[in-house]
Amino acid sequence: MATPPPEPGRIPRHLAVIMDGNGRWAQQRHRPRAIGHRAGARAVNLCIDFCLEKGIGALTVFAFSSENWGRPEDEVGALMKLFMNALEREVAELHRRGVRIAFIGERERFASAIRARMDQAEALTAGNTRLALNIAASYGGRQDIAAAARSLAEDVAAGRLRPEQIDEALFGSRVALSGLPAPDLFIRTGGDCRISNFLLWQLAYTELWFTETLWPALDAATLQRALDDYASRERRFGLTGAQVAGPQHEVSA
Ligand code: FPP
Repeated sequence: MATPPPEPGRIPRHLAVIMDGNGRWAQQRHRPRAIGHRAGARAVNLCIDFCLEKGIGALTVFAFSSENWGRPEDEVGALMKLFMNALEREVAELHRRGVRIAFIGERERFASAIRARMDQAEALTAGNTRLALNIAASYGGRQDIAAAARSLAEDVAAGRLRPEQIDEALFGSRVALSGLPAPDLFIRTGGDCRISNFLLWQLAYTELWFTETLWPALDAATLQRALDDYASRERRFGLTGAQVAGPQHEVSA
């Protein structure tokens, strides 16, 4: 994940999103939480449209955390049904629009019918290049890092790798999304200002943006505000402002 910094005023290459506030949106309307998630699925489409329109190359959304399995059974069930429906309904159209779909997280925890749909969506869209859509499902940042550490440890134990060969670049190649630039911009809706175990390794130098807007109420104007704020920021990656303004420098993002 070694990438040069983007120029100021640029569109993010990779947007990472925590889609929070579905439950509260439904509660405000005296509706069940599942209705909020359904409205949240529509907002995912809006966000995808926005990325396609703006030329953002990668979008990673946090659809279901490792911890979300602990929610009430009926809510988990409603979310599973929603994921299944979305996979059945949306994939062909996303494919037509040049979207490459990938899932990150512990896929083995899902029912086999959902896993099969996930595999099919990835296989069908693997050759697309317009937008890389990554759906974090049963994902946790600590679990992602632990899995990377385990895979390196296995290589060392098998004699394929020496401990001194392990550096940030090698470690980064074992975490999720390793084939993409690190997220430039992170957006969280719903008013809470935390990362909640999302992409802990990958967000090291990401610009963070929070909004009170509840996810189902998302609109293009809110996303545009995030982009405008991002474009106004100076990203220094640990260097000085003068260095960043200089003509040549190498940075690991
Ligand atoms: C957080 O809101 C949202 C989730 C746990 C689920 C996210 C799912 C979707 C947006 C819909 C489907 C997604 C795809 C990719 C098809 P919350 O329930 O924690 O809201 P609250 O904080 O108001 O309770």
